Amino acid sequence: MIEEEKKARCLNAYREYMQDCRSAEAPGRIEFLGNHIDYNGGKVLGAAINGTVCTLARPRKEQTIRLFSESFENEVVETSLNDLSSRKGPGSWANYPLGVLWSLKEAGLAPPSGFELILTTDLPLAAGLSSSAAVELATALALLQLGGHELGKSDLARLCRRAENEFVGLPCGILDQGVSAYGEKDHLVLIDCEKENFSTLPLPKHTCLWIFDTGIKHDLIDSLYATRHSECAQALELLKKREPALPCLAAASEGLLTSANLPAPLSKRALHVVEETARVDRAIELLKDDVSPKKIGELLFASHASSRDLFENSCPELDFLVDDLRGRPSVLGARLTGGGFGGAVLAWTDHEFSRTEAKATATAFRKTFGNNPKIHRFEASRGARITDPLEKPNNRFPES
Ligand code: GLA
Repeated sequence: MIEEEKKARCLNAYREYMQDCRSAEAPGRIEFLGNHIDYNGGKVLGAAINGTVCTLARPRKEQTIRLFSESFENEVVETSLNDLSSRKGPGSWANYPLGVLWSLKEAGLAPPSGFELILTTDLPLAAGLSSSAAVELATALALLQLGGHELGKSDLARLCRRAENEFVGLPCGILDQGVSAYGEKDHLVLIDCEKENFSTLPLPKHTCLWIFDTGIKHDLIDSLYATRHSECAQALELLKKREPALPCLAAASEGLLTSANLPAPLSKRALHVVEETARVDRAIELLKDDVSPKKIGELLFASHASSRDLFENSCPELDFLVDDLRGRPSVLGARLTGGGFGGAVLAWTDHEFSRTEAKATATAFRKTFGNNPKIHRFEASRGARITDPLEKPNNRFPES
């Protein structure tokens, strides 16, 4: 009885301490199909996963902001509401939450005073699962609450993308933020990036999402991502000389590409975008028709070949994994997922695919490259949401 009273007293004290705190959670994502299509205006398919970033925010009376995460550098980053400059080197992880704050300020939705923000995550980092978008959405949802504001999912995704484009400096599309916002259990998120329309489609039953992380860190910001983005913009510019009304690269026809005779490597980049767009459109039809997943899986393999040969954002490690997985009967499809130039391979499998088989792929990889890829299995899961800070902390960890 005494124990019960003690517990109740502790809980009350805790509730009182936490009463001004606000919290949120946002998932990472797997890019299912549509490589480098989002910023080219086509359609993309992704799944939100059961690996998330959780935020806890507490208002302060003064203007000071304190950001802390043991998952990212384990150091406090301190600044003020009036000093939102981006950082280089140590503390640069904070550019994502600071960028969101900047974006909120631009939209007139910033919290009225300073705050403390704590972030935790069970997402594997730098594995091409977009922990950055998860940080952005979880930060935005927590900070919006401090200011008493609300945003719909599409505005939330756009606000976070703006943070990444204009504050962090990465010209990414809407894929990561859109999937993290719209994720739904057992569903794929479909984004029409030109119209910025978001919807969901059921993921075929009895199929599983596996990630093989090569451990090769793809430093998106100063890497070839921006080069690919600019190559696509140059290709569009040249095509518009022939077809001025062309709205985006993904809308170009193969006939236009042939007649425009673009110089290399722009011709290859454009061909990848046009063919990958057709593959996503085909996958959407097949998903709606409920056909054999094998047919959809073939599109994933074809997507990888195109990233390797035309978009040239693969690497030998990713190619090796895809080739090995292709030889396994339970694997429906496999491809690099995300920006590329390292990172991870998605293997979409039927439910017969086992950890033993996954380990066999890892062993073959180690024999060739000397290290083991990290293996994770994820479920297609719900999207970003406001949580109750008094709720039991989320203790789901992906298998590794
Ligand atoms: C990264 C970007 C996305 C998208 C993918 C490639 O994940 O953040 O916007 O461009 O690469 O499809």
